[in-house]
Amino acid sequence: MTKKNSLNPIKLLKYYNLINHNLIYNNSAINRYKRDKFEISVDKVESLERLKKKIFDIKDCDLKNNATNMVFSDGNPKSKIMLIGEAPGSNEDQEGLPFVGRAGALLDKMLSAINLDRKKVYISNIINYRPPGNRRPTDEEIKRYLPFITKHIEIINPKILVLLGSTAMSALIGNEVVISKMRGKWIEKKFGSCKTSVIITFHPAFLMRQPAQKKMAWIDLKMIRDKKI
Ligand code: URA
Repeated sequence: MTKKNSLNPIKLLKYYNLINHNLIYNNSAINRYKRDKFEISVDKVESLERLKKKIFDIKDCDLKNNATNMVFSDGNPKSKIMLIGEAPGSNEDQEGLPFVGRAGALLDKMLSAINLDRKKVYISNIINYRPPGNRRPTDEEIKRYLPFITKHIEIINPKILVLLGSTAMSALIGNEVVISKMRGKWIEKKFGSCKTSVIITFHPAFLMRQPAQKKMAWIDLKMIRDKKI
């Protein structure tokens, strides 16, 4: 029988950090302990688990009531690059992971064009439950989920924040602007204690409908690739 809590991620992480100490055997009085580059702080894991639980426990929400799964995130919580889309579609709702459908396949190609992949970035959405019929989330729904994604950004604390599409842009930057004017620019922005460089680009689902815009998205991707962080 498995022990109670044996898969608790926080306990596993503490254990991992404990055994993976990488002692450096030399005579130097300092720097005997080298942090493992894959080590993620217990604080961050705890904060993410707490946030996940809050979203999971949300009450009286039609989105949640109609969804199969909550979609929280994918990728590396230690990454300096965080991407935010709109909301899960039906594939994401089935799998409980963001960007796993056709738009996700294009997103993977866009990332790979600048030598990135899902293990090197962190991905989430403005809304964590699928809007029925893949409709756009309403202003009220965005308002309700905004504190969660803002907290999510603060916990991940990325150096670069990539907003995919106009829903993510209007939720986090403002809706008095249009994406065609706002994309391809660095915007310095604070989310709680997180200071980050934001770039807006087109959503992969939009690029599938308007392939002529891919050349603009490529400009944005190269800006991300070339940004010194
Ligand atoms: N579109 C989004 O904005 N997010 C997903 O996770 C999938 C499709």
